[in-house]
Amino acid sequence: MSKKFLKGKVALITGAGSGFGREMAVAFASQGASLVLNDINLEGINETRDIVLNSYNVDILLAEADISKEEQVDMMRKNVFQKFENVFLLVNNAGIRGGSSTLKTKTKDYERVMDVNVKGAWNVTKSFYRKMTKQKFSPVAGKIINITSCAGTECGLNPFIGMYSVSKAALIAFTKLWALELGPNNITVNAICPGIFLTPIYNNDPDFIREWIKLRNIKLPIDKIGEASQVADVALFLASPASDYITGQNIILDGGMTISINKL
Ligand SMILES: NC(=O)c1ccc[n+]([C@@H]2O[C@H](COP(=O)([O-])OP(=O)(O)OC[C@H]3O[C@@H](n4cnc5c(N)ncnc54)[C@H](O)[C@@H]3O)[C@@H](O)[C@H]2O)c1
Repeated sequence: MSKKFLKGKVALITGAGSGFGREMAVAFASQGASLVLNDINLEGINETRDIVLNSYNVDILLAEADISKEEQVDMMRKNVFQKFENVFLLVNNAGIRGGSSTLKTKTKDYERVMDVNVKGAWNVTKSFYRKMTKQKFSPVAGKIINITSCAGTECGLNPFIGMYSVSKAALIAFTKLWALELGPNNITVNAICPGIFLTPIYNNDPDFIREWIKLRNIKLPIDKIGEASQVADVALFLASPASDYITGQNIILDGGMTISINKL
């Protein structure tokens, strides 16, 4: 049997206490990764750790930190490198919903969404990339995966969640900029861009999601709500050697939603 491809490698996942973050933790552990589970919700990451350890015997560090706060992120980095020697995979997954029409959004709501979805990912990447560039893994020294959203793409921009759209468009831009900036250091940077998935961000409620889809007149060519494990499958591909030559891409995972506008 071939060796697990994440053995000896550490995966740091922000927002690992729930939804996609939890599924990705299980997926990376299945390939032997050690894990750093970050969240502001300690109970959530405790549960994720228990779920992972139920199936896989891997090293896990719980890192309770608010990624929007630079000093908490820097403290997290110190704790991580006291325990581990590398962060091969950095997954900027933590994010929050937010907003209404952009011009009616209050400053405090703008700041709340942008602080987590944009500044949070920037804080974490800024804090960890230097060490990642010095890692001796070959041919790729490290990989960054951002979890964006179709709401941040040209076809998916949505005035009903306007500030969320703005934040995810910025994260897509960061993905491409970091790919340019870190490519010479053998670090790949890609994004997974989900459509509509059943997770706590949608209250884990398929009826609520269906209502929202109807209200927004959204058409899904593959008429199914996505499952978090499908995001984890793509994350595992991006974490694997099979994707080593891919960088700067925003991989859309939406059942065809964004190509269907005005066509169905
Ligand atoms: N579920 C979907 O349909 C969908 C679609 C597109 C994009 N996304 C994106 O996927 C990512 C994960 O979302 P999810 O659906 O799993 O939602 P979720 O609410 O289940 O998970 C998000 C996690 O992030 C954590 N978090 C929030 N603020 C934080 C902070 N400041 N610091 C650290 N952790 C923080 C939360 O506590 C939570 O555990 C988000 O970025 C979201 O925008 C989700």
